[in-house]
Amino acid sequence: MSSNKHPMKHSISTLNGKFGLKIEEVTRKDLCDEAFKAEAYNLWMKNGGLLAVRGADLANVLPEELLAWSEVFGIVEQKTQTGREDKTVPGFPILRIGNVKRKDGKPSAQFAIVPQLKDDTDIRYNPETRRPVWHTDSTFRKKPPIGSVFHCKIAPPKGGATLFSDMRTAYERLDTEKQQDLANLEAVCSLAHHDKKINAYSPEYPVLTPEQRDENPPNRVPLVLKHPLTGEVAVYGLNSSTCAIVPIGQQIKQSDLDHWDLEGIEDESVLILRDLLPYLTGPEFSVKWDWQPGDIVAWDNRSTIHAATGFDYEHNKREMWRLTLNEDNPSMSANI
Ligand SMILES: [Fe+2]
Repeated sequence: MSSNKHPMKHSISTLNGKFGLKIEEVTRKDLCDEAFKAEAYNLWMKNGGLLAVRGADLANVLPEELLAWSEVFGIVEQKTQTGREDKTVPGFPILRIGNVKRKDGKPSAQFAIVPQLKDDTDIRYNPETRRPVWHTDSTFRKKPPIGSVFHCKIAPPKGGATLFSDMRTAYERLDTEKQQDLANLEAVCSLAHHDKKINAYSPEYPVLTPEQRDENPPNRVPLVLKHPLTGEVAVYGLNSSTCAIVPIGQQIKQSDLDHWDLEGIEDESVLILRDLLPYLTGPEFSVKWDWQPGDIVAWDNRSTIHAATGFDYEHNKREMWRLTLNEDNPSMSANI
């Protein structure tokens, strides 16, 4: 793209200053081109971990092509979550998300109702409504996924955008004292808390059994994460599983954890992140990605946060394909 060896044929633009990149006129052939892959990976790393490719030809991307493209950015998680087998692309570790149905009327994708944005001011986190639900994926896992790849099959005419925000620049622009305060903290992220929280408003959503709870103790992640490849630091640690924020290494009482896990109640300390969220998701750091069929976006969970937005579910259809990246791809990251 930028080198003489590969004369640029794509138009490349940034999405918000130093954050995010869009490459246009991309074809399925480009996705298998080694030079294109290497350069895309570099651009992903250099632009805060958000890279979108767009092109009419990409609407016909096959599952195996999407999988191969995703492997550029990381090692793709192979198992699909129990109970979601009927929501995957058969034979591939690709989860379908949206409101599409099979011929028998059963949903063929995972579906969740999310409020629509009224206008662009709604992108910024609202402490009153706690929307949009900005987060990092799966911080409750011992090894949280490094990122995800999202591909649009069917887009509604309006709405359904995905929001991203640049946690690296947001951290960089905090004053030194605030940076230091955050650097001394870690988030306690518990799957039991996460599931109970959802169960509180969707009672059909199962909570963990005592055995499952024992098998899934809380995971702790730093509030300021240093990216292992770029060395850049970013604000980190907000997920629906985040039940408390504590000084690094501080013990938590079992009675407190029981309260957070069994009642789904967040400790007040989580406000340390929630109070920062309106700043973290302001126009200087955020991107609203409006999907077109074919678009493929890769994001790095270690330097970005994201949120879903809704659309007219009754009248429109949306189908997205999603892959999870569990770790860096050593053959790509070796060159960083
Ligand atoms: Fe997510």
